[in-house]
Amino acid sequence: MKILNVAGARPNFMKIAPIMAAMGRNARIDPMLVHTGQHYDQRMSDLFFHQLGIPKPDVNLGVGSASHAVQTAEIMKSFEPVLLEHRPDAVLVVGDVNSTIACGLVAVKLGIQLIHVEAGLRSFDRTMPEEINRLLTDSISDLLLCSEPSGVENLRREGVADSKIHLVGNVMIDTLVKNRERAQQSPILEDLGLTAGEYVVLTLHRPANVDDATVLGRLLDAFEAIDRDCPIVFPVHPRTRNNLAKLGLSERIEGLTNLRLIEPAGYLDFLRLMSSAKAVLTDSGGIQEETTILRVPCITLRPNTERPITAEIGSSRIVGNDPAKIIEAWQSIQSNTWPTPQVPLLWDSHAADRIVTVISG
Ligand code: UD1
Repeated sequence: MKILNVAGARPNFMKIAPIMAAMGRNARIDPMLVHTGQHYDQRMSDLFFHQLGIPKPDVNLGVGSASHAVQTAEIMKSFEPVLLEHRPDAVLVVGDVNSTIACGLVAVKLGIQLIHVEAGLRSFDRTMPEEINRLLTDSISDLLLCSEPSGVENLRREGVADSKIHLVGNVMIDTLVKNRERAQQSPILEDLGLTAGEYVVLTLHRPANVDDATVLGRLLDAFEAIDRDCPIVFPVHPRTRNNLAKLGLSERIEGLTNLRLIEPAGYLDFLRLMSSAKAVLTDSGGIQEETTILRVPCITLRPNTERPITAEIGSSRIVGNDPAKIIEAWQSIQSNTWPTPQVPLLWDSHAADRIVTVISG
């Protein structure tokens, strides 16, 4: 079976790495890799390929940044000739970024089977571009591989046939478990002068949090309060850096005494940073899951989550962008009342093998 795998943006890379490796171990599968180029900076892309040992993509579409419509359309235009040339038996897409739906749509229109990894996740918030990508990709997929039980329930409720749905576990955790020891070699803590257990990691990039001056300003109120208690290390996504400058907030954030703005971190540095943190504040999806395994409290700066298991077991608390709620969660960490979570079902570092078994089955 020739399977064409797609990766486009940073959160795809840690998912595609173990899938490519597991496919490489299976004699019945001939994997190919296409990078759409949605993310293209060295620190947002190449570094991950290098650190995670992902093979060099067979094709890079090089689409780059643009509005949602233009980016999605450019990916579709340049992906179609690749499919026509290589005629794979199936296309595999991961996650919920624009590359996921763009490539999925091209595949099904050419009559090629579509496999979606991380299917069924729902935030039930259609203002989130990723929710639209998730709904659309799932509605056209032939094989829907879920990371947590809520994904299976959502798909069943939407009328997807049981025969198409498989709970395979969380492939991103495969990557985390594989690299956890190695990440301990990263010198990032020493380089930044941080002490394990005595700092907070912050990430922020969702349009809903970083595109509006009032919202971002309120988040800064909360960070100011935490900054008085504890150092904060903030690897800044390019979109957030641009917006801080555009919205006139760069000076304010740079003025926080204990807050360190750093470039986007590579996988190993970031894993080391998260592993030893007192807490993580984030609006990312994947980080809610990674902190669950690392047993580091995660304050989720969003009004909802498509990964409800992390909130159900208590590893992550959904607080939105209200400074009072953020500070309340922070105080609960300070007073050691955060629960120690159970590991969710099948987050056991073998998800990629299960994916390959289902596909080649
Ligand atoms: C995308 C995903 C989001 C994911 C995030 C992780 C969609 C709809 N969103 O959001 O789900 O959580 O990736 O990072 O697909 N930029 C650079 N260099 C890069 C990439 C982006 O400078 O390598 C800047 C550009 O100014 C660009 C902006 O970041 O316009 C946004 O990039 P884009 O890929 O459109 O969306 P993300 O916000 O990264």
